Amino acid sequence: MKANTVEHQIFDHKRWKRKIFAKLLRKKSFRKRFFQSDFFFQQMMEYSPIPCQPLASLACCEQLVFENFLSRNGNLSPYEVMAICALIQERKPQNLLEIGTFDGNTTLQMALNAPEKALVHTIDLPPGNVQTMQPVLKSDLQFIYDEKKQRRKFEETKVAHKVRQHFGDSTAYDFAKFTENGPLDLIFIDGGHSYECVKSDTENALRVVADHGCILWHDFTPHFGGVFQFLCELSKKLQLVHIEGTNLVYYSP
Ligand SMILES: C[S@@+](CC[C@H](N)C(=O)[O-])C[C@H]1O[C@@H](n2cnc3c(N)ncnc32)[C@H](O)[C@@H]1O
Repeated sequence: MKANTVEHQIFDHKRWKRKIFAKLLRKKSFRKRFFQSDFFFQQMMEYSPIPCQPLASLACCEQLVFENFLSRNGNLSPYEVMAICALIQERKPQNLLEIGTFDGNTTLQMALNAPEKALVHTIDLPPGNVQTMQPVLKSDLQFIYDEKKQRRKFEETKVAHKVRQHFGDSTAYDFAKFTENGPLDLIFIDGGHSYECVKSDTENALRVVADHGCILWHDFTPHFGGVFQFLCELSKKLQLVHIEGTNLVYYSP
C-alpha cells in the first residue's frame, strides 16, 4: 500500500515580507519615513534609467592641476572636480560654460586644466535681492545669498584671464553672449535645482553646444528631486551616462 504523503512546504519568506511591507506602507508615519530614507534613495539610484560608467571609460587623468581646491558646502566634491577636469584634459574644449559659479572653485580648476587659449564663461545671479523667471528651491537660497562667494577663487590667479564672469538669471539670459567665439565645447549645469530651472538651462545648453561638445549636470540624486526627475525623463531622448562615484551626469551628442 502507498503511503499518504504530502509535499514538504518551504516557508515562503518573500511573500511573507511583501505582505508585511504592504501592510506597513498603509501606515502614514511609516510611509513618510520610508520615502525619505537613505535606503529608498539608494534604491532609486540603483534602478534609475541612466547607466553608470566609471570615469576611466570616459577620460584618463594623467596630469591634472588643482589649486586652492578644498571644497565647502555648495561646492562639488574633490572627486567630482577631478572628473570634470579629466574630461577637460581629454577633450581639450576651447569654449566652456559653467551655470552656477558660486565661489568659483570649479571655475578655477576648469580654467587651470583647459587649453591655454580656452575661455571659461561662468554665470551666477547678481548680488542683492534677486528675481528669477523660474521657481527657486528653498534649499538653493543659502547658496544664492552666500556672502563669502562674492570673492571668487579664480580672481587674481594666473588663469583669471581665461574666465569671463557673467551676472544674470540663467533662465532669462541671452545665451548668444556665451557663443561669441563659436558653439560651446563643454557646458556644466549647476545653477538652480528646481525642475523648471534645470529644464530651462538644459534646453538652452542643447541649443548652443557644439556637435562634438558635451554637457555635464551636477546633483543627479533623489535628494534633488527636480534634477533627478528631469534627467531621468531626458534619458528617454538622449544617451546620458551617470559617472560612477559622483552625482554627475554626462552627455556627448
Ligand atoms: C550649488 S552652487 C554652484 C556650485 C559651483 N558650481 C561649484 O562647483 O562650486 C549654485 C549656484 O547657482 C546659482 N544660481 C541659482 N539659480 C540661478 C539662476 N537662475 N541663474 C544663475 N545662477 C543661479 C546660485 O547663486 C549658486 O551660487
